[in-house]
Amino acid sequence: MSDLADLFDTLSTLLHRTRGDWQRYPFTCDSLPWPELAPLLEELDDAQLEALEADPAAAQACLAEWRPDAVALNRPRLPPLARAADYATPRWSNGIPGRKWAQIKDFAANISGTHPILEWCAGKGHLGRLLAQQSARPVTSLEWNPDLCRQGEQLAERLGLEHRFVCADALAEAAAGLFAAEQQALALHACGELHLRFLRHAAAAGTRTLALSPCCYHLIEGDRYRPLSAAGRARDLGLDRQDLRLPLQQQVTGGERVRRLRRIELSWRLAFDELQRALRGQDEYLPLPSFPKQLLSGDFADFARWACGQKEIPAPATLNGEHWLARAEPRRLMVQRIELVRHLYRYPLELWLLLDRALFLEERGYRVRLGTFTEPANSPRRYLIQASRG
Ligand SMILES: C[S@@+](CC[C@H](N)C(=O)[O-])C[C@H]1O[C@@H](n2cnc3c(N)ncnc32)[C@H](O)[C@@H]1O
Repeated sequence: MSDLADLFDTLSTLLHRTRGDWQRYPFTCDSLPWPELAPLLEELDDAQLEALEADPAAAQACLAEWRPDAVALNRPRLPPLARAADYATPRWSNGIPGRKWAQIKDFAANISGTHPILEWCAGKGHLGRLLAQQSARPVTSLEWNPDLCRQGEQLAERLGLEHRFVCADALAEAAAGLFAAEQQALALHACGELHLRFLRHAAAAGTRTLALSPCCYHLIEGDRYRPLSAAGRARDLGLDRQDLRLPLQQQVTGGERVRRLRRIELSWRLAFDELQRALRGQDEYLPLPSFPKQLLSGDFADFARWACGQKEIPAPATLNGEHWLARAEPRRLMVQRIELVRHLYRYPLELWLLLDRALFLEERGYRVRLGTFTEPANSPRRYLIQASRG
């Protein structure tokens, strides 16, 4: 068994055994699901919960006595890979935010070789452009947004680079034809289904080297995650989209503003849930879709009217926002207490998903390395799967 398979086995055992901790949706809970943890969790007030949410190490210390195995599996398991020697910016990188530029430079620091490059879901192709400049290799960037393709093409022309764009849907069958054996295929922050396709197509084409940094695990086709690897299918966790969001609840780069908005969103979602239960006369949770954060800058009554519209519930003529927000308050604390426990599993679950991808490649004859390519301050999605064959 490879080291990666060993770790996958350990994680699978833990995650299967602890499903009751993480594979539940806090909004649907009426009470704390763990009687043994109730005395500890109910002692935590608002300020303490916020502080623990902002400091995962402190949250782990708080739960260590009760969940020692989960805490142990939160110790960083993946080695740091190469980092850029500097983050100096060429003129064409004007307008790329500093953190994004650091991600691109760090990703590029892990890429070497002589094969032509395929960049999957490229945006404006910043990564491909940097590599075309550094290595003088031909680069093909796949992207479906025509504006981004046009901007990327203009830059390539201005810089005299052999960098072309294919403006097409990565999920269309024809996209498989972009992969070849004598090629290096790259994907920086390709979302769920997009990077699953990337892996399947590359493995089918026998592409020599791959580098992938996955993100948005929940954006898959269908409601359930189908593990890629045989190992993953043998230890299937039965993940749905909600479960797949768990690793993304890591707001490392978010800061105070993001935390404040998250808190408002939680209160308003729960207050709407109280309202809709009363309006419909049904004591049953009704999920709301994700929405633009501007909706949180108005007042709750406007938000509730918008939410009623989404759910086709006639909104009441007068709406006492304060009343519903106050009703939601005890539930908000309960949700935060449940999240404190669930969040212990963010890293183990992300590791499980990464390893499922890595083992899929090992099963297809690749040598695989898994590590971090950039610092947490640059992105919480900082894992890189590198694979080569032959
Ligand atoms: C998260 S961005 C990453 C962009 C770039 N790799 C980077 O890291 O800066 C994902 C990109 O995938 C593109 N994309 C999304 N769905 C796509 C599809 N079905 N086919 C092709 N590109 C797609 C988006 O337009 C976007 O530019």
